[in-house]
Amino acid sequence: LNISIIGVPTDYGQTRRGVDMGPSAIRYAGVVERLASIGHEVQDQGDIRVSQKHVNATVDEKLLNLEEVVEVSTALANSVHEVVEQKKFPLVFGGDHSIAIGTLAGLAEHYKNLGVIWYDAHADLNTPETTPSGNIHGMPLAVSIGLGHERLVQIRNNVPKIKPENVIIIGARSVDPGERDLIREQGIKVYTMHEIDRLGMTRVMEDALAYLKERDVDGLHLSLDLDGLDPLYTPGVGTPVPGGITYRESHLAMEMLQESGMLTSAEFVEVNPILDEKNTTANVAVALMGSLFGETLV
Ligand code: ARG
Ligand code: MN
Ligand code: MN
Ligand code: MN
Repeated sequence: LNISIIGVPTDYGQTRRGVDMGPSAIRYAGVVERLASIGHEVQDQGDIRVSQKHVNATVDEKLLNLEEVVEVSTALANSVHEVVEQKKFPLVFGGDHSIAIGTLAGLAEHYKNLGVIWYDAHADLNTPETTPSGNIHGMPLAVSIGLGHERLVQIRNNVPKIKPENVIIIGARSVDPGERDLIREQGIKVYTMHEIDRLGMTRVMEDALAYLKERDVDGLHLSLDLDGLDPLYTPGVGTPVPGGITYRESHLAMEMLQESGMLTSAEFVEVNPILDEKNTTANVAVALMGSLFGETLV
């Protein structure tokens, strides 16, 4: 593959400072060398420019840092769009999960029927009406299906970026009441921790991939929030939730995605080195990327 790395050093989608250092931590964990050793052509495009001011942080209709998130998302969408145009594989590093708004906006013009795997403890389906926190990192999936603040929904253009029926959430264990309503209304497929325990990750991934194939998706994006894993394995995240996916299950999921041959883009988000233990979380992210991009032992 021809992989193009884009870093997005932003923490504007939530209130725990430090997640803006995620891209550095992931690079420090050796991602470029790791992917190159598998045989990929890797180009690190560096970071999207993000203002680090944090003064007069804007609050609009209780959305924290709305202006800043719109600015970062727009720049990221343009970068991702360009990478796909050049027929390269976009690999995006957060930053908090609000960056998915930009990533998906950038992908949308190229994929008319994009599949999305949302690997996360959360559903990130809040809207300005339902948000318990005002944090935009709890909203990117809603925004991408066209629901939420117009400034966010209209990034690049004002059509929905993905179809709710093409989204699969894996690992959910903290879902707000408004998000649950939306999941039912919109027919979003969710494998909660209950299904992962009950069926096992093999079945979950087989079902998920078969479902997306049946829907005839023309691309597949992985949006991996490191809090999808249990905080035992990835402690460096801002909103940890116990009872999560294991390290082994996650490797298996990545390997099955690789085997499917369907993946066309990916992002790894919510790595916060300030909350971490000796860069454990970034190291896990890079190890998972090894599996996702085809590393084999023998
Ligand atoms: N549901 C909560 C909220 O809306 C938490 C969201 C956490 N999202 C994340 N990407 N870590 O604030
Ligand atoms: Mn910052
Ligand atoms: Mn999460
Ligand atoms: Mn998330």
